[in-house]
Amino acid sequence: MSKLHELIQEYDFLFPVPHGGILQSLDELEQLIHEIGDRKFVSMAEIGSCFGGTVWLYSQLFGADGCHFTIVDINIDPWLRKVIYEIQKRKNICFHLIEGPSSRADIGSVDFLHIDADHRYHMVKADYERHSPQVIKGGIILLHDTLLDEGPGDHKSGCIRFRKELEDNGENITTFGGTIMLCDCFGPNKSNPDDRSIGISVVYK
Ligand SMILES: C[S@@+](CC[C@H](N)C(=O)[O-])C[C@H]1O[C@@H](n2cnc3c(N)ncnc32)[C@H](O)[C@@H]1O
Repeated sequence: MSKLHELIQEYDFLFPVPHGGILQSLDELEQLIHEIGDRKFVSMAEIGSCFGGTVWLYSQLFGADGCHFTIVDINIDPWLRKVIYEIQKRKNICFHLIEGPSSRADIGSVDFLHIDADHRYHMVKADYERHSPQVIKGGIILLHDTLLDEGPGDHKSGCIRFRKELEDNGENITTFGGTIMLCDCFGPNKSNPDDRSIGISVVYK
């Protein structure tokens, strides 16, 4: 079993419903891991952590021993604290929690940034503009939901619009699509009704 599959099983065992699993797509994560390979990061940050699904995965898959991991969320969920507690039993990672709006947070200099907070266009753009300059040259920025079109309006499809804008601007960006959900956000059988991808994009600085 791959490290990813082991971590997913362990997360689902340790943190069962009601919160509904890791808010990601399995096949997108597999492509991301293939893309990143064995590289490890020493200073990571995530904007939008919710129940800690990606904190659990990314810190253990991509974090170097002794790395720092900054979490920014408007609400630090009690489940997230439990996730951190469990990670620290397994790996030497120093977490920094910033509870509040991302528009005010200072993540410091990082080599890995995951943006997965408010998906409205103006908000994902604001997160990117505020925090991506903190990513060092050679570092990466992950953007989530960059293929997810949840209907008319700006609410979720804002990430699609912003991803296209980065592509049009000639940024070095790669996007992965997949439909195998790890959470029940599309219903109890975790299947994505219209085979719609969620989308993870990697921007290389
Ligand atoms: C989609 S969830 C994150 C999911 C998580 N990355 C995962 O995959 O498990 C979005 C999170 O962003 C947070 N959030 C939304 N708007 C925010 C803002 N303006 N500043 C900080 N956090 C925000 C929400 O509280 C929520 O926990």
